[in-house]
Amino acid sequence: MIIERQEQVTDAVLSAMAETADPRLKEIMEALVRHLHAFAREVRLTEPEWEKAIEYAVGLGQFTNDTHNEAVLASDAVGLSTLVCLLNNGNAGNTETAAALLGPFWRMHSPRTENGGSILRSETPGARLAASCLVRDGKGQPIAGAEVDVWQASPIGMYENQDENQADMNLRGKFVTGADGRFAFTSVKPAGYPVPTHGVVGRMLEAQNRHPFRPAHIHFLIYKPGFKTLITQVFVDDDKHLESDAVFGVTRSLIGDFARDGDGYTLDYTFVMEPGEAVLPVPPIK
Ligand code: BEZ
Ligand code: FE
Repeated sequence: MIIERQEQVTDAVLSAMAETADPRLKEIMEALVRHLHAFAREVRLTEPEWEKAIEYAVGLGQFTNDTHNEAVLASDAVGLSTLVCLLNNGNAGNTETAAALLGPFWRMHSPRTENGGSILRSETPGARLAASCLVRDGKGQPIAGAEVDVWQASPIGMYENQDENQADMNLRGKFVTGADGRFAFTSVKPAGYPVPTHGVVGRMLEAQNRHPFRPAHIHFLIYKPGFKTLITQVFVDDDKHLESDAVFGVTRSLIGDFARDGDGYTLDYTFVMEPGEAVLPVPPIK
């Protein structure tokens, strides 16, 4: 069609996409175009503002490399990752879930570590932590043989891939639950940290007068055929940013009980898996 007025642009695009063979792709792209056009009309997007948006999108690519994923961070910082997570877990978003966003720092091939072993792979200062966790199904039955990836930031708030003073794979490990559904490891109590702010997302946070901090947490990815892969985080209960996580990951059930034990801490946490398909996400970094 020949477009005569701004109102016709949306229909022109929708009809151009009408022959999309994949019905799900068609549904998603149609809704995206309708919402995107409605958004531009609502805010009366100007040309310089559109240019800024393109610059931002280009920045997502320019700031992404093998060790940093700015696109994942952008999704996290506007709550999209958490929304998608909650919509797809906990009975399709109807009930509370143990899931939380993956974040940009999961790496494949964490070192296999025996149950009870340490995930410290180089000298790491900080309060010691002994974690002992149960993985069970919704009926209370333990899940044996589940593979559990664990990753966390150091007590100075950096993941090993951000910090040349840490050994490769420091504070990362892969465990397998025993017949009782339990796995355990020793580590250090994590600290909260700022999300990376060197890229376009950092500029957005600054413009919005937002702090970049995440409350201290440990990430878990639990994989067992027959169950939906559980991707989650357990948060340290005394962190001052629990209510203002820069990426909106904290839900109440994910606040762990980090109990004092002499000089260190213990954590005893129960993960509940939902029936479903065991698929692994695409790693955001190498
Ligand atoms: C993380 O917890 O690793 C994370 C999540 C979102 C943005 C940055 C870091
Ligand atoms: Fe993290």
